[in-house]
Amino acid sequence: MTADLLRPDVALDAFNTLRLPARAAWFAAVESADQLRAVLDDARVAGLPRFVLGGGSNLVLAGDFAGLVLHVAFRGRARVQEDADAFYIRAGGGENWHDFVRWTLEMGWPGLENLSLIPGTVGAAPVQNIGAYGIEMAEHFYSLRAYDLATGKTVGFDKADCRFGYRDSFFKQQGAGRYLIAAVTFRLPKRWVPRMGYADVARELEAGGIATPTPLQLSDAVIAIRRRKLPDPAEIGNAGSFFKNPVVSAADYARLAAAHPGLPHYPQADGSHKLAAGWLIEQAGWKGRRLGPVGCYERQALVLVNHGGACGADVRAASAAVRADVRARFGVDLEPEPVFIGG
Ligand code: EPU
Repeated sequence: MTADLLRPDVALDAFNTLRLPARAAWFAAVESADQLRAVLDDARVAGLPRFVLGGGSNLVLAGDFAGLVLHVAFRGRARVQEDADAFYIRAGGGENWHDFVRWTLEMGWPGLENLSLIPGTVGAAPVQNIGAYGIEMAEHFYSLRAYDLATGKTVGFDKADCRFGYRDSFFKQQGAGRYLIAAVTFRLPKRWVPRMGYADVARELEAGGIATPTPLQLSDAVIAIRRRKLPDPAEIGNAGSFFKNPVVSAADYARLAAAHPGLPHYPQADGSHKLAAGWLIEQAGWKGRRLGPVGCYERQALVLVNHGGACGADVRAASAAVRADVRARFGVDLEPEPVFIGG
């Protein structure tokens, strides 16, 4: 069975949205626990490093990978439970995130609409706790089922186990590289309240003359905003926001705000302030600017794009140059958001 599943020397270009060229020594797309077990038991890949690949939309392939790439292709979507307050909806880790979100809305289970059009898969969503337009996935997360590649056992995680943070989770920290997320269950409250607080969303709805949107209208508004601001990975290679929005202390914020009027900021519950990395990058002169084949997108400086022919080293070089200029100008260090592998 694994003769078909396990493929040697596979090009990963089509499996990463930055479209960087890299090869995997071994590659297998797995659709089920049985397939996964068969691949992991295959003597040809015994002892090799493993990498779990979803949609490749938050990934920098810095070079070839001398191990086994496991492409998660677990499918399936279903309502698994319902109580007085909520619907519980489960999807396979390999399901496309945006198709899943639209399906939930069409089925009458709203809640995820502000996360429309985020590239990637359902299984990758908890890893970096995807977020946009005023909500994070963690808000509607209920549980997940993962395979522990170290022990070969299936493990259940509830919300507390996942230790979600801003673009962060257990799976990016202590659990990094160890688990394959097979299925995720979301809890979607029956009492739905539209989230229109984000300025772009409020403006978009107002422009459309919509005062009380339906979930699908809210999803459509988010799609329109994203299409306008963010590059479509099908047209130009990119991995979404390349840096996290940095969080600084109240004292650092006060110093920066005094020196830079108009500095966008989001006060946090603990007194710190989140800054807009896109604004810092634009002020540092990088919006639309390139270093070799990699540059900051002309409509959203936070997104690094591959203008064609870039390799992992080009992305590293552009990322380092942007970071250095932002550090020199503002004294703020930007942390890349995607995961780097290979090289
Ligand atoms: N800004 C600039 N110049 C730019 C980009 C942004 O001045 O080139 C300013 C904007 O004017 C605004 C502020 O920065 O005042 C924030 O911009 P925006 O609303 O576009 O959001 P963001 O903070 O740049 C974050 C997420 C996005 C998410 C949007 C909307 C991160 C790292 N990024 O971007 O997520 O779609 O908010 O919620 O938190 C992703 O993670 O891949 C991603 C696209």
